[in-house]
Amino acid sequence: MIKRLAINTGGGDAPGLNAAIRSATLAALERNWQVWGIRHGYGTFTDPNRPLMALDRDRVRGITLLGGTILGAANRGNPYQMPITASDGSTQLMDYSELVVQGFREHQLDALIAMGGDGSMAIAHRLLQQGIPIVGVPKTIDNDLPGTDQTLGFDTAVSIATEAIDRIATTAESHDRIMVVEVMGRYAGWIALHAGVSATADIILIPEIPFQFEAMVKKVEERERRGRHFTIVVVAEGAIERQGQVFTKGKVAGQSEQLGGVGEYVAKRLSALTGKESRSLVLGHLQRGGSPTTVDRLISLRLGAAAVRAVEEGDFGKIVMLQNGQIVRVPIQEIAGKMKKVPLEGDTLQTARDIGICLGN
Ligand code: F6P
Repeated sequence: MIKRLAINTGGGDAPGLNAAIRSATLAALERNWQVWGIRHGYGTFTDPNRPLMALDRDRVRGITLLGGTILGAANRGNPYQMPITASDGSTQLMDYSELVVQGFREHQLDALIAMGGDGSMAIAHRLLQQGIPIVGVPKTIDNDLPGTDQTLGFDTAVSIATEAIDRIATTAESHDRIMVVEVMGRYAGWIALHAGVSATADIILIPEIPFQFEAMVKKVEERERRGRHFTIVVVAEGAIERQGQVFTKGKVAGQSEQLGGVGEYVAKRLSALTGKESRSLVLGHLQRGGSPTTVDRLISLRLGAAAVRAVEEGDFGKIVMLQNGQIVRVPIQEIAGKMKKVPLEGDTLQTARDIGICLGN
C-alpha cells in the first residue's frame, strides 16, 4: 500500500522535468497518495536547509511549460561521493547513503520516483540494493541512456541547437567564414548529429567518429570550388581527433569531468590549414534552459504517469522507457552505468553521409 510517494531530480536539469513532476504528482494524487519532493537530488536527507517539498495540485499548477526543475538539481549530490571540505581546505568524498536510507524511513516514504540520467540511475541502482523501492524516469539532454528511443530533454536541446546553427549560418555566409558551433552531449554525439543534420551543417564531428583535419579541409575546399565561401561545423563537446583526447576543463571533486574547448581548437586549426577566417561558439547551457518543446512535454507527461503506474503495481527496480513509441519497463540494473552511443550504422548517420555532410573521417 502506497501512502507517501517521493520524487527527486538529480544530475543536471533538463527541459521536461517539471512536466514529469506534474504528471507523476497528479497521477499519485488521483490515487489518494501524498506526494513529497526531495530537494536537490538527495539533498533533503543530507542538508537540513532543504526540507521535503509538499507536492499538491497548487504546487504543480502551470509548470508543464517551465524549464529547470522546481525540486532543484544537484551535480554534486551523489550520496556515495559527497564532497566534504576539511578544516585544512582539502576535500574528501564521503559515503552518506545511510543518511538517505534513514531519512527515507524517518519520513515514512513508501516509494521513490527518481528522474535522472546515467549517474542518477547508477545511484538509484545502489539505493535499491539498500532497500529503497525506486522507479526511474530517463532524463538527460544528452540522450545517452540505453533502452529508450529518447530521453526527456533531448528534443528541446536539439531544437535550440538547430535554431542557433540556422542563425549562425546567415552570418557565416555574409562574412565568408568558417563557423564552428560546439554543442553538449558528453561522450555521445546525439545532439551534434541531430541538430547538425537538421540545420544542414557542412561538417559534423561526434565522439563516435574520431576526426581528421584532412577530411575537413577537403570539404572546405570543395565548397570554395562550388562558390560556397562559408562552412558550418557542428562539433560535439566530447569529439576527439584521431589519436587525440577529449578536451576537458578539469574536474571538481564529486562532480563529473567538465568537457569543452574542442570547438575553439577546431576553428583555429581549420583557419591555419585553409587560410580562411573562422569563429567558434559554445552553445553551453542554453541547450538545457527554457521551455520544453511539445515533444518533450508529452514524453515527460507520459513517463511521469507511467512511473506512478509502475509504483502502484509494486514493479520496483525498473525505469520507464520509450521503445518504438510505447512505454515499457526496463530493469535499472540493465542500464546503470551504461551509455548509448550513436550507432555507426544508424539511419541518421547514414542520412548525413548520403546528403554529403562530412563526418571528419
Ligand atoms: O549531462 C547534461 C550536460 O548538460 C552535458 O551535456 C554537459 O556536458 C554537462 O551536463 C554540463 O554539466 P554542468 O551543468 O555541470 O556544467
